[in-house]
Amino acid sequence: MTQLPASVSIREVGPRDGLQNEEPVPTDAKVRLLDALSATGVRRIEAVSFVHPRAIPQMADADEVWARATKAPGVRYSALVPNSKGAQRALAAGFTEIEVVVSASDTHNRRNVNRSTAESLDDIAGLIALLHEHGVTAEVIVATSFGCPYEGDVDPARVAGIVDRVVADGADRVAFGDTTGMATPRRVREVLTAVRDRQPDIPILLHFHNTRGTALANLLTALDLGVTEYDASVGGLGGCPYAPGASGNVATEEVVHMLHDMGVDTGIDLDALLEAARLAEELVGRRLPSGVLRAGPRLPQV
Ligand code: COA
Ligand code: ZN
Repeated sequence: MTQLPASVSIREVGPRDGLQNEEPVPTDAKVRLLDALSATGVRRIEAVSFVHPRAIPQMADADEVWARATKAPGVRYSALVPNSKGAQRALAAGFTEIEVVVSASDTHNRRNVNRSTAESLDDIAGLIALLHEHGVTAEVIVATSFGCPYEGDVDPARVAGIVDRVVADGADRVAFGDTTGMATPRRVREVLTAVRDRQPDIPILLHFHNTRGTALANLLTALDLGVTEYDASVGGLGGCPYAPGASGNVATEEVVHMLHDMGVDTGIDLDALLEAARLAEELVGRRLPSGVLRAGPRLPQV
């Protein structure tokens, strides 16, 4: 392993990616979870998404959740949007950082946002310009970057081509989503190498799911390749809409526990985070898959 970074920036996505894949919970529960997370020392939170309520009923109350949530100083909050209409809603709600999503695989893009990848990319070009007019940061999340539940393998060259396009259109950052947990260290290395060969300067964030148990291995691989921004979800909240019962996003506590032990700072207080994870369990009414939540943090002497 090359030299480790002194710190890693974790974006907590439990309130969005986590809750969108759980049975719907009341608005009040979402606000409580957001407030608990805001008190953990985490520096970034993806708070809500502005999507069609028919597509994702769990986010139908995004405006109200965001209006009622405590905005903690020192925390950067963001929202995910699937199209221009979502971006307009996020701007109206006052977000200054916005993620727009497109899938590398055409089939997944059609199922997710009802259009081809090429059509989404055309929309995104205008959307980035709109966000920049408002002084808002535009991140493009490339979903299914490491594999598609419908098409199988996704060619890293296709991912790199999408990155070329959105960088040309002005994206401030790209994120690669392992939407259904198909990534392995080999695939992570291939995608990052393909992208970096062509776009060495664009900031990169990675979004791993632990559906098949590879999330921390993938994260270490990416860390070794110099990536220092990651999404993670409290308690491993969430799941996979295509595989009932499957684990969801990599659990924030597992990432924090591992990184802190390796001397990499995250700014997060693990005890406060575990409290938020226990709250998340209570709110969704099921045991969450996080190993650190189940076993507790490692004792210093053991
Ligand atoms: N929020 C709320 N309403 C929206 C919207 C948004 N982001 N985007 C479109 N709409 C509304 C339109 O205003 C229109 O309303 P009308 O019928 O009253 O005129 C209607 O939805 C249809 O618009 P259209 O552009 O044809 O959308 P669509 O039916 O093709 O749906 C999406 C496309 C993107 C809105 C929908 O597929 C979606 O919300 N997907 C989200 C998927 C997601 O979040 N996945 C997880 C994250 S990766
Ligand atoms: Zn996800």
